[in-house]
Amino acid sequence: MTTRWIVLEQRGVNLEPVRVGICGLGTVGGGTFNVLTRNADEIARRAGRPIVIEQVGARRDSPACDLTGIKVTRDVFEVARNPDVDVIVELIGGYDVARALVLEAISHGKHVVTANKALIAVHGNEIFKAAAEKGVIVAFEAAVAGGIPVIKSLREGLGANRIQWLAGIINGTGNYILTHMRDEGRTFEDVLAEAQALGYAEADPTFDVEGIDAAHKLTILASIAYGVPLQFEKAYTEGISRITAEDVEHADNLGYMIKHLGISRRTDAGIELRVHPTLIPKDRLLANVHGVKNAIEVMGDAVGPTLYYGAGAGAEPTASAVVADLLDVARDIATEHNYRTPYLAFSGIVEGDTSRPILPMENIVTAYYLRLLAVDRPGVLARVATILAEQDISIEALIQKEATEGELVPIILLTHRTREANMNEAIRQLESLADIAGPVTRIRVENLDDNA
Ligand code: HSE
Repeated sequence: MTTRWIVLEQRGVNLEPVRVGICGLGTVGGGTFNVLTRNADEIARRAGRPIVIEQVGARRDSPACDLTGIKVTRDVFEVARNPDVDVIVELIGGYDVARALVLEAISHGKHVVTANKALIAVHGNEIFKAAAEKGVIVAFEAAVAGGIPVIKSLREGLGANRIQWLAGIINGTGNYILTHMRDEGRTFEDVLAEAQALGYAEADPTFDVEGIDAAHKLTILASIAYGVPLQFEKAYTEGISRITAEDVEHADNLGYMIKHLGISRRTDAGIELRVHPTLIPKDRLLANVHGVKNAIEVMGDAVGPTLYYGAGAGAEPTASAVVADLLDVARDIATEHNYRTPYLAFSGIVEGDTSRPILPMENIVTAYYLRLLAVDRPGVLARVATILAEQDISIEALIQKEATEGELVPIILLTHRTREANMNEAIRQLESLADIAGPVTRIRVENLDDNA
């Protein structure tokens, strides 16, 4: 026994280690390996026992990791079946192989830690059912917002509350792109390439820019917030690729910032679950979250608004969450399964509580920013206002800019809150007007105040 472990034993650390199998040695896998190795003593003191890497399964070694003395296999399923592994850490990403790997590990009685939001959002109900039957832990803090402990906060710290809404910047790549495009006037493609090089982007970066990655994370947050099964297929997603410099400038002049938000709200009719570009007032904390940083605001009926901020992607920030889950596993391993915190915070929801449906997008209620290009002649504004009034849409602000394209003038409108179905119909009618050129730009507006 090394001097190091003797010292830990003297400090009351149980020397029976928790044996970890790391599957995947990419950005997050490499970060997890290095954090677990570098901070081993500190982690052992916190866990009350050492957490040791028993085996690594990876298609190739990582130049960022010193694997000397570590058992390495090219077959991740070997790790899932290894009798000397207590917990597998799934960091290979993607849907199918990850699902098969996790189910295989569970069937062998292993606990699972994963950073895979796609896996949990899409296959989580099935995985939790299998895990409950086997009495094993599945932990996924790193799946949402990288290093920010928002799952633990929502599931445990806010357990007293009826959650009313949550809104977050939950894709670091998208926020990085929006920030650098605005601040440095760089192109979308240029900043995306940089985010990929830094290891922030998904293997398929359209997941980042089209809102799919954020919808995976929002699906998980909403389940934990309201106690409903995971229903990724019902989430609405709209990406950031159609945001123009012109809209960013108009929003700025009106006192707003455009952010790509995941929003979920509890209403009497059901639960809103949507990801889209959103205008938010510049003085809100979320409007000041820049670069790869993520932040989630959660409104609880008892606590009021709370905000969780930090690095949403990257090797060691995400590893921080993975290792925190390993600490929980190390502490809970001996606890009878029924006394552990439920996977999705509420007992029994995996079986399917459909009493609170996810609302179709036409039924959500929000405010809107509209930009139209209109022919500059008498009566056009009146016709626009009539169409909105007939749909029961109230105008909050209206600005007509100087002509930019021949005789056409941009008209910028902010509306009060209305049903999306009414707005869809109004936009359909506006686009059919002979005096309106091209499509109407629509960006939703959220004030994110305490009552919203
Ligand atoms: N691609 C993700 C992001 C990584 O940019 O936020 C973390 O989930």
